[in-house]
Amino acid sequence: MSFQKVFILSSIALLAISVAWVVRELNPPWLRYQEAYHDWLRAAAPETTPASLQAQRFSGLQQVGVQALRRLDRCTTCHPGVADPRAKEAPPMFRFRPVHAQHPMEKFGCTLCHRGQGRATEVPEAHGEAPFWDEPLLRGVYLQAACGQCHREPLPTQAPLLEEGRQLFEVYGCRNCHRLDGRGRQVGPDLAGVGSKAPEDLMWGDDTGPRTLPIWLLRHFKDPRTFQPNSPMTDFRLNDAQATALTIYMLSLTKLEMPRALLPSRSRPAPQPEEGA
Ligand code: HEC
Ligand code: HEC
Ligand code: HEC
Ligand code: HEC
Repeated sequence: MSFQKVFILSSIALLAISVAWVVRELNPPWLRYQEAYHDWLRAAAPETTPASLQAQRFSGLQQVGVQALRRLDRCTTCHPGVADPRAKEAPPMFRFRPVHAQHPMEKFGCTLCHRGQGRATEVPEAHGEAPFWDEPLLRGVYLQAACGQCHREPLPTQAPLLEEGRQLFEVYGCRNCHRLDGRGRQVGPDLAGVGSKAPEDLMWGDDTGPRTLPIWLLRHFKDPRTFQPNSPMTDFRLNDAQATALTIYMLSLTKLEMPRALLPSRSRPAPQPEEGA
């Protein structure tokens, strides 16, 4: 091949790469979600949409920070509306939920409850469901685990299974073998931070099924010898509901050191004497 041909071919290749890059930059993965939300809002609540926003199709990259924990969550880039009372009837991924109003996003962000990767702007990465990303979204009933990181008081309507898990922990005397909050024997591992364990830190034996923390906990509760045939942990013959409740409680025991200012007033520990009056 002549030098000229090589030059022309490589120029074409470079141009193609540049065009692809520009197209991607102009059409980021989140754009269509914002367009869908803005279309919905314009149709559903035109009177509440300021004239200046009537023509707007999207609002760009969004982010909220949890300063105390140095977190930056961009989830609202694809999920606008979740804290906007105008969006009470919006499609599920945009819909307003009262729990979001009770925890203003400027203070709580999103990942403190949902997990996921706050900074990511593509779907599997943001949901923590791509390889090499920790903390997959807590889906379905497992989201109740989030509440237990801060609320020590029962939340019977919003987190009934968390409460059931806490009670089962006492009823079955798990502290006969496990330490938690500095109390209990140490026959088995200390359970502080167990809700933040990565799947690769768990013993899977030769099991080949899907590997997530909730799956391990649930199966281990239903049969402590499922992964390690010689596990000394008691088999309490738990039914599905009980195993799920205990799994949720374990998932709530994260390594996060929650700043006092984010704790509900009823769940704040009494101030230590040296903190002064
Ligand atoms: C690039 C766009 C995008 C980003 C960024 C994004 N999401 Fe999503 N999210 C989606 C889409 C699309 C769905 C619906 C499909 C699905 O469930 O995967 C969804 C679904 C969800 C659901 C419902 C899941 C269920 O239980 O069925 C939750 C909760 C959620 N996202 C939370 C988050 C949180 C928290 C973040 C930030 C860490 C986030 N999302 C970032 C696009 C996004
Ligand atoms: C205090 C905990 C908490 C925080 C903080 C929080 N959420 Fe949620 N979110 C929930 C709960 C609980 C639900 C589901 C229960 C409900 O419908 O009320 C939910 C529901 C959702 C859903 C709908 C899921 C579905 O099943 O379709 C999306 C999307 C979502 N949240 C996104 C966000 C985003 C984005 C943020 C940050 C701006 C956020 N959440 C902050 C607790 C939280
Ligand atoms: C990061 C800590 C944190 C997490 C996680 C959290 N909350 Fe809260 N929650 C608070 C704080 C702080 C308040 C403000 C009220 C107060 O200070 O007592 C609050 C208020 C509430 C309220 C209003 C009623 C009241 O007691 O004043 C409800 C209901 C509630 N939370 C439910 C939930 C549920 C359900 C979840 C899990 C999906 C959850 N919270 C997760 C910290 C948290
Ligand atoms: C007779 C002692 C014993 C009792 C009672 C017991 N466990 Fe265990 N548990 C162990 C031992 C030993 C291990 C480590 C071996 C294994 O993973 O099976 C373990 C492992 C665990 C793990 C995995 C921890 C990690 O970091 O890998 C969890 C979670 C757990 N137990 C929760 C519970 C709960 C909740 C109860 C009460 C319902 C309970 N255990 C009762 C002995 C016990």
